[in-house]
Amino acid sequence: MGYTVAVVGATGNVGREMLDILAERSFPADEVIALASRKSQGVEVSYGDHTLKVKALEHYDFSAIDICLMSAGSAVSKEWSPKIAAAGAVVIDNSSCWRYDSNVPLIVPEVNSDAVTGFRQRGIIANPNCSTAQLVVALKPLHERAKIKRVVVATYQSVSGAGKEAMDELFAQTKAVFQIDEILPKKFPKRIAFNLIPQIDVFMEDGTTREEWKMVVETKKILDPKIKLVVTCVRVPVFIGHSEAVNIEFENPITVEEARETLRNAPGCIVIDKHEPGGYVTPYECAGEDATYISRIREDATVENGLSMWIVSDNLRKGAALNAIQIAECLINRKLITAKRKAA
Ligand SMILES: NC(=O)c1ccc[n+]([C@@H]2O[C@H](COP(=O)([O-])OP(=O)(O)OC[C@H]3O[C@@H](n4cnc5c(N)ncnc54)[C@H](OP(=O)(O)O)[C@@H]3O)[C@@H](O)[C@H]2O)c1
Repeated sequence: MGYTVAVVGATGNVGREMLDILAERSFPADEVIALASRKSQGVEVSYGDHTLKVKALEHYDFSAIDICLMSAGSAVSKEWSPKIAAAGAVVIDNSSCWRYDSNVPLIVPEVNSDAVTGFRQRGIIANPNCSTAQLVVALKPLHERAKIKRVVVATYQSVSGAGKEAMDELFAQTKAVFQIDEILPKKFPKRIAFNLIPQIDVFMEDGTTREEWKMVVETKKILDPKIKLVVTCVRVPVFIGHSEAVNIEFENPITVEEARETLRNAPGCIVIDKHEPGGYVTPYECAGEDATYISRIREDATVENGLSMWIVSDNLRKGAALNAIQIAECLINRKLITAKRKAA
């Protein structure tokens, strides 16, 4: 007998991707329940060859649910994740609400799967920010090989990272440019079509943005609190796929060839790095893929033991839905959860 799985936020970018990935990976689910806000009640969403009718979260009884994949924003997670956990489900939460709670493990399975056992404290496991997930997948094997001291990152983040309304805004603005219509920013602080915006999330007191703060704090929690990071997060007019230009300073020497070899053998990483036009991966090509792609690996001669590289991944998959499902698989493979129906 399999598990009973709820997907909260099933009509959203991440929720729809979760349903696709559960079906693609033949996740051992006997039943999958799609939930969203009251306005989506009765809407149909695809789950493999099946169609599910969306139910409203507000009156749903979670007592039969084993695993809840939560992807409906921080406000919903703040209220509902503890209630769902109290009903006996393990909550895998995609929002930023629980990531910084010391009693909630923040997991990227390729990096810190052993920490998953910490879920027993609150019944909640947090999924990191999309830009953090792909960064730590690539940093972890390099850290093991030559010990990372400091990382400088500039991100180029697609609009899908801000939800389905943000994708609609890029589409509508792009059309408006060609039709010489008025451009009206709503979701983003400035026009995003044929532009880019060096602000994601709100400003902090020190002038960084909350998205930049998240990447620093999450990388330390998942990988190593001793690593120093400085991050600039930029929204770009790309629909799917986050890119990162990354400079890494190591404690110990590491050559370009050693880094390439290390990354080639690392879980979740694919190296595509030919020194010729097009010999690298762009966000367009990584959409719909599971891997974190690393290209443009080269020496940074401005520091001792420095490397520069380009890291690209599908933010809706490794950055959100795939990572959450890998966490659920990790719980199952380590026999940390039992299906309620089986136990009854
Ligand atoms: N997109 C990414 O790359 C990414 C990466 C990591 C984490 N996340 C996080 O994942 C979450 C979802 O992101 P998204 O991109 O999928 O957003 P989205 O496309 O805007 O979808 C939001 C989903 O939440 C549901 N929802 C909103 N309010 C609700 C309520 N009161 N009760 C029940 N359901 C409600 C929506 O349902 P309706 O359609 O009924 O409104 C929809 O299904 C966010 O917390 C985000 O920070 C996203």
